[in-house]
Amino acid sequence: MARDYQAIVIGAGPGGYPCGIRLGQLGIKTLVVERQYWGGVCLNVGCIPSKALITAGKRLEEIAHADAMGIIVTGEAHADMTKLQAWKNGITAKLSGGVKTLLKGNKTEMMDGSALIVGPNEVEITAPDGTKKRLTADNIVIATGSTPIEIPGFAYKDEPVLDSTKALDLKFIPKHLVCIGGGYIGLELAMAYAKLGSKVTVVEMLDSVLFGFDPDCVKAVQRNLKKAGVDVMVKAKAKGWAKTADGIVVNVEHDGADKAIAADVVLVAVGRRPNSKGLGLEALGVQMNGAFVKVDKQLRTSVPSIFAIGDVAGQPMLAHKATHEGEVVAEVIAGHKVSYDAKTVPAVVFTDPEIAIAGLDEAQARARGPIKVGKVPYGAVGRALTTNETDGFFKVVIDEKTKVVLGVTICGSHASDLISECALAIEMGAEALDIGLTIHPHPTLGEGVMEAAKAALGEAVHILNR
Ligand code: FAD
Ligand code: NAI
Repeated sequence: MARDYQAIVIGAGPGGYPCGIRLGQLGIKTLVVERQYWGGVCLNVGCIPSKALITAGKRLEEIAHADAMGIIVTGEAHADMTKLQAWKNGITAKLSGGVKTLLKGNKTEMMDGSALIVGPNEVEITAPDGTKKRLTADNIVIATGSTPIEIPGFAYKDEPVLDSTKALDLKFIPKHLVCIGGGYIGLELAMAYAKLGSKVTVVEMLDSVLFGFDPDCVKAVQRNLKKAGVDVMVKAKAKGWAKTADGIVVNVEHDGADKAIAADVVLVAVGRRPNSKGLGLEALGVQMNGAFVKVDKQLRTSVPSIFAIGDVAGQPMLAHKATHEGEVVAEVIAGHKVSYDAKTVPAVVFTDPEIAIAGLDEAQARARGPIKVGKVPYGAVGRALTTNETDGFFKVVIDEKTKVVLGVTICGSHASDLISECALAIEMGAEALDIGLTIHPHPTLGEGVMEAAKAALGEAVHILNR
């Protein structure tokens, strides 16, 4: 007997919705079920709104420093949070609506509701009004994403305790924001709010913020955190908070002493956990990898008709990795002989300066064997001077013998946009000369990538080769 659908996708984030679109394009009868956010965390309460806030903070800072270029601003520029939030919400609404338009345009059906997997080929959907419906499908794709981790002493239900969703939706600029966690979210939002006018303190339990990133990048970010007046406490343990007459105090154990930091709100950004519970997976015997759903190279779980993609299927929890996996799964379901075989998932931290990496960083490459490193400062790139953004560097790491590009790290303005060329080079197995001999338009920041590739060969022309 034919089933209701050839595929049911659970969750419409950057994993699920592109999967649904691609399935529609491939002529597969598909239903996408979403319980809260069309576009997922990313479009509604993650990547997009955070980048809007970060950009607003940066623009305000640029205005404050425009006099260096001879632009005189009279009076003091400031952020109007009501207008800023309205602008941000307009962007997320437009993108979320776009997701529905694209699914519809590709003949993929949509349903609002929460899905529970009740059999290898059956899903029960609870609609917002509580009514339940069972539907069958040849394939089920779990794309349910992740949720912020809560820590003892900081319950998100309490008003001054913010998860990233609440922190992105503030109607006021905090006088003093404490960020617990100096990772992606903690530092991106610490910098955004510091630039918008908040006093910020970051509390990180490890001995460095952005632990594991290239130390040269971490140093550059730390310098700017200091410039923005952000206090950073490392090896610090946040223990709880209490109300005071005019706000709260956050209690922290630091350097063997108890400290109380006065604040008005506290953001907890200590990582995210996959949404794998309550989906019916235990009853079906779906194998797990810790809290993540275990998948093979085709993103198939231990139950052959069930797939998992995105945050729920493993690290790195990044939107573009989810999207790529969604597209791979759609093709697998359509019978194409494909599997996940990307060499690199580039990553970007949208701090100031931005950090973007593709492939191996210097330490990882060095541990693997002999390498050459080409490093070029932003200050040596003409375009960086014309935008007055000379902070940072380009670093290209190559295999000493084969000259194949192993990794690129860019720390500086627009690093996020510059890294795609480097990911392409790595995917294609390019050598340093392939980048070095590609004519890059002048004057652009991309020339920094070209020059760093040449520097790795000892052939840079705009810096002295070492
Ligand atoms: P999600 O986006 O989490 O989507 C899953 C969807 O499934 C949700 O809409 C959820 O409502 C739905 N769902 C869950 N369970 C059910 C169910 N039972 N039934 C029906 N629907 C269900 N990544 C980047 O690459 N770049 C960034 O700049 C970036 N910035 C971020 C900033 C913040 C503040 C946060 C929190 C995250 C950020 N991320 C960023 C991470 C990125 O948002 C995630 O990696 C990405 O959203 C994962 O996509 P996904 O499709 O796996 O899951
Ligand atoms: P994270 O893993 O990036 O950072 C969490 C930080 O909190 C770590 O430095 C950790 O040591 C610290 N920490 C953990 N427990 C702590 C405690 N009790 N006290 C103090 N510090 C503690 O996680 P984050 O920032 O919550 O982001 C979650 C994920 O979302 C990221 O890992 C990333 O995958 C994704 N993301 C990606 C972005 C991007 O691509 N630009 C932006 C934002 C999020």
